Amino acid sequence: MSDIRLAIVGVGNCASSLVQGLDYYKNGDRSGLIQQDIGGYQVGDIRVVAAFDVDERKVGKPLGTALKSAPNCTPWFTRDLTGEGVVVQMGPIYDGVAPHMAEYDADVSFRPSRQEPVDVVKVLRESGANVLINYLPVGSDQAAKYYAGAALEAGVAMVNCMPVFISSDPEWAERFRSKGLPIVGDDIKSQLGATIVHRTLAQLFADRGITVKRSYQLNTGGNTDFLNMLRQERLKSKRISKTEAVSSALPDNKSQLHIGPSDYVPWLQDNKCCFLRIEGEGFAGQPIELELRLSVMDSPNSAGCAMDAIRYCAAARDRGLGGPLEAPSAFFMKRPPVQLTLEAAQAGMETLLHLPVLSPAKA
Ligand SMILES: NC(=O)c1ccc[n+]([C@@H]2O[C@H](COP(=O)([O-])OP(=O)(O)OC[C@H]3O[C@@H](n4cnc5c(N)ncnc54)[C@H](O)[C@@H]3O)[C@@H](O)[C@H]2O)c1
Repeated sequence: MSDIRLAIVGVGNCASSLVQGLDYYKNGDRSGLIQQDIGGYQVGDIRVVAAFDVDERKVGKPLGTALKSAPNCTPWFTRDLTGEGVVVQMGPIYDGVAPHMAEYDADVSFRPSRQEPVDVVKVLRESGANVLINYLPVGSDQAAKYYAGAALEAGVAMVNCMPVFISSDPEWAERFRSKGLPIVGDDIKSQLGATIVHRTLAQLFADRGITVKRSYQLNTGGNTDFLNMLRQERLKSKRISKTEAVSSALPDNKSQLHIGPSDYVPWLQDNKCCFLRIEGEGFAGQPIELELRLSVMDSPNSAGCAMDAIRYCAAARDRGLGGPLEAPSAFFMKRPPVQLTLEAAQAGMETLLHLPVLSPAKA
């Protein structure tokens, strides 16, 4: 049996890229990955054992079929699929499906199933899952907290890829700590996406003595993540998460920042385009302006970070660590419990891996 037994919540585009990636990298190829080995774990050690969704085109289907179903639109880059034996189970909907989804064509939006939800804790226990990854839509506050509670009850570590604050919330953090369960969160960064580019450039301005006066980061895309985020009321925590990831790299709080998802452009599909502008003042108050356009495939761009975050959960568990993993969260997430510089996060991750292994899951 594989050592990392993964349960997926939300079988959307990000889940598709992650599961395809498990297959793509199973033979040890490392190009395009951040890290090959994490505490003895290779990508090939991750196996999907359970998956939950609520869309009528995904529930009850084998995972591979569900991942290819509308409204998923991310590129398909592998032939075989890990997790073919897994059937997608009906989760409780709560606030996972925004009402405005019904106004759009079925091909591009969610269509909730009428099936009764399964007992998620029971499925987690019976599947032997030891890490749960949360890929719910932005704004699914109740649903995300329900699955976090289920992970705690079933004794499963968590990687929280969306901006409902769990790892960075002191009460939830304590609940994971007291159960000895690692958690990496919240709101995953892309491998090389708008957040890390913006944060790094802001840091560069600051390090070179340039005062950032104003900056915007406008993001557009055509997947369901962007469709869902058309409603401002679902976006509150996303804006906090994205803005803090940049503002924390600046020495004071005086810069005017406007950062967030800006529009849904259907034909972009999973292609995300970010438009970024930084206005600063340098020597003797003279102006410096920078403009940049970044184009990426949104979902594959975060799958490598997810694979690493999952493996840090397993490595931490082997070392007897529970609660939020500060360094991996700072490296892989926009809203970690503690924001660290890239170098400090990398150093912290190395320190974690040098801790003695107490209970190796891997023979
Ligand atoms: N690079 C990235 O793509 C990136 C980066 C940072 C954060 N994120 C976040 O990750 C999350 C997932 O992104 P995505 O592109 O895969 O979204 P998606 O819209 O493609 O998938 C979401 C899935 O969740 C399902 N769902 C809705 N309610 C549910 C419930 N109650 N229980 C179980 N499943 C439910 C939907 O049916 C859908 O299949 C989003 O919150 C997104 O903002 C993505």
